[in-house]
Amino acid sequence: MNCFKSSLFSLFLLAGFTVSAQEKTLQMVAPFKVGCAINPFLLNNNKGYKAVVSNEFNSITAENALKFYSLHPKRDEFNFAMGDTVVNYALANKKRMHGHCLVWHESAPKWLNEFVGDSASWDNILKTHIQTVLQHYKGKMTSWDVVNEAFFDDGNFRTEKTNGTNKSNKTYWYNHLGADYIAHAFQYAHEADPSTLLFYNDYNQENSPAKLKAIIAMVTDFKQRGIPIHGLGLQMHISINTKNEGIITALKEVAKTGLLIHISELDISVNTHHDSTLVYNDSLKALQSEKFAFVVEQYRKWIPKKQQYGITCWNVSDADSWLVKWHKSNDWPLLFDKNYQRKECYTAFYNSLKK
Ligand code: G3I
Repeated sequence: MNCFKSSLFSLFLLAGFTVSAQEKTLQMVAPFKVGCAINPFLLNNNKGYKAVVSNEFNSITAENALKFYSLHPKRDEFNFAMGDTVVNYALANKKRMHGHCLVWHESAPKWLNEFVGDSASWDNILKTHIQTVLQHYKGKMTSWDVVNEAFFDDGNFRTEKTNGTNKSNKTYWYNHLGADYIAHAFQYAHEADPSTLLFYNDYNQENSPAKLKAIIAMVTDFKQRGIPIHGLGLQMHISINTKNEGIITALKEVAKTGLLIHISELDISVNTHHDSTLVYNDSLKALQSEKFAFVVEQYRKWIPKKQQYGITCWNVSDADSWLVKWHKSNDWPLLFDKNYQRKECYTAFYNSLKK
């Protein structure tokens, strides 16, 4: 797209205009759903953000609004307001809604972190949370990340928030219910809403063969036991240095499960050493564009069409990427810049979708 057309198009985007007929967007050319993880505050208060979400994406994930601390702030209190804002936006704009996430070692409200009880009471909390939330969103949520990040990179079940370094951060679910909290979570979810597709979601499958193996072993076990599971989420928080072989192996192996495969949280960091002096130069942009294209091409190559649940980017633009806050250093990991303009990597991503 030449620079005049691009700036004209950007004006349309910023003004919230619908896209003119000859201008195609990601959702128009993609052979599967393309999504983004959104923040309801930005959706309601930032025109550029809203225009990009509206014009480019046909699948929505709530970045935080459907997590435990957002929905269940007190043991006997649920608050669906923020979650409803995201879900109602998705439905009103005929976009698929993917729920994230019912069970995780992070995003716990204070009462849960401090809860003391026997395994029966922990199981009751797990079941009540899952079934109350599923029932509230019944018929509106195409799919859910039921359990998020239950394995360490070495393939063992996660028992701490970190890899055993910070003993104080025990993961309550495993430590009070044992490994079967995962199967129970999927069963509770399916009981509450049999129509919702249930996913297991994790990161680093492309870097950790042991984690990848453990996830696949869990799927095999679930199938043998009749535990309902429909999909796997590969978060793919990757960088320009992520090895292509690892991405190919992860995609090939998860495809063999026959489950729906969702690249669920894609971003591609260029500031791999969190260097505060780094400049986002042309060579970094080229490497990042290559990686975005590679991910799409390999997803299309190794995941059979009927298993392609789609590709979701985590956040919308470089201005709202979690990575910048997390690493407290600049980064440019997404398809849109801080002014919600399409970047070079957008074109690479778009062309790979369109092929
Ligand atoms: O809203 C409160 C605000 O009121 C308060 O003043 C502030 C200071 O504590 O915290 C704000 O909440 C923060 C929330 O993001 C909203 O910004 C939480 O502390 C912070 O922990 C939370 O971080 C989120 C993180 O998950 C933990 O839930 C990130 O935004 C979100 O991008 C990140 O997303 C995760 C996925 O869910 C799972 N995969 C990894 C991915 C990246 O970590």
